[in-house]
Amino acid sequence: MRASSEPRAQAEQSEVQSFLAACRARVDEMLDALVPAETASPVSVHRAMRWSLFAGGKRFRPALLLATGKAFGARAEDLLQTACALEMIHTYSLIHDDLPSMDDDDLRRGRETCHIRFGEATAILAGDALHTLAFQVIAEDERLNDSTRVRVISEVARAAGTPEGMIAGQAFDLEAESREVTGAELELIHRHKTGALIRAAARAGAIIAGASANELAAITRYAAQLGLLFQITDDLLDVTESAEVLGKTPGKDARSRKATYPALYGLEASITRAREVHLDACAALDAFAPQATLLRAIADFIFHRRA
Ligand code: IPE
Ligand code: IPE
Ligand code: MG
Ligand code: MG
Ligand code: MG
Repeated sequence: MRASSEPRAQAEQSEVQSFLAACRARVDEMLDALVPAETASPVSVHRAMRWSLFAGGKRFRPALLLATGKAFGARAEDLLQTACALEMIHTYSLIHDDLPSMDDDDLRRGRETCHIRFGEATAILAGDALHTLAFQVIAEDERLNDSTRVRVISEVARAAGTPEGMIAGQAFDLEAESREVTGAELELIHRHKTGALIRAAARAGAIIAGASANELAAITRYAAQLGLLFQITDDLLDVTESAEVLGKTPGKDARSRKATYPALYGLEASITRAREVHLDACAALDAFAPQATLLRAIADFIFHRRA
């Protein structure tokens, strides 16, 4: 969208890239340990879970959780299981989002969608199993004390469900296919369907790290804007990028008459809105300048992302 010309910005972006790569490696290793083996019965469900989970997602939500926790002094080991739980919920949401009765997609993370490969019933069960395993993983994380576990479970459940979370957003998104939406309604859809889980990832990292109420409030403002930004850029990429780069079918939103930023405002105005939301996200971090360098660079990364 806009090339970073400043050397400092470039250095920060390469730091984000290596941070994300390191997170991906740690998260993938832990996910592999947490998810039942393909050979375990029922083989169909476990193969389908692993098909979708290990297809090369960016692992953005776990990385954000790790970055936020780290900013407030938590150890990566204490954050890792919750980070994996967030990725399980995200992957379950993608499996269900792709179903014929929802967005009806056949390409995800560069390979066939779960229901194309394994059939609809198995895909639904694989999504359900990832969803429940996520909460099991947090509940059984002995590195966290009981009250932190309950707090994190509540946080994540609210963000994944309804009326505050992702399920509400997915319902609004589907309803919006058959009618015109206002700008305020569109923002509400995006803040729920995508923003809520991203906000919860950042908050969970801060909660595990023992952040103060003021710190948590600032992180919440940051991550709420970051979540909205993430979906605005997702809408933009659906218009501007190829299947090869995205690993999913572009142009799908317009064909499905989805409520998106480019559909409502056009490309230029959507990029302008993305820029404003990006600046708002960064402004929320002003209170804790030095420890927030990585979080600010993550917001830059999402604004500039191409996949
Ligand atoms: C795609 O999420 C779905 C949205 C909520 C916008 P990502 O862009 O994080 O997808 P993966 O995890 O990298 O595949
Ligand atoms: C994703 O929105 C929201 C989810 C909760 C999965 P999209 O439907 O735009 O996501 P993609 O473009 O299929 O990844
Ligand atoms: Mg969708
Ligand atoms: Mg979709
Ligand atoms: Mg999309």
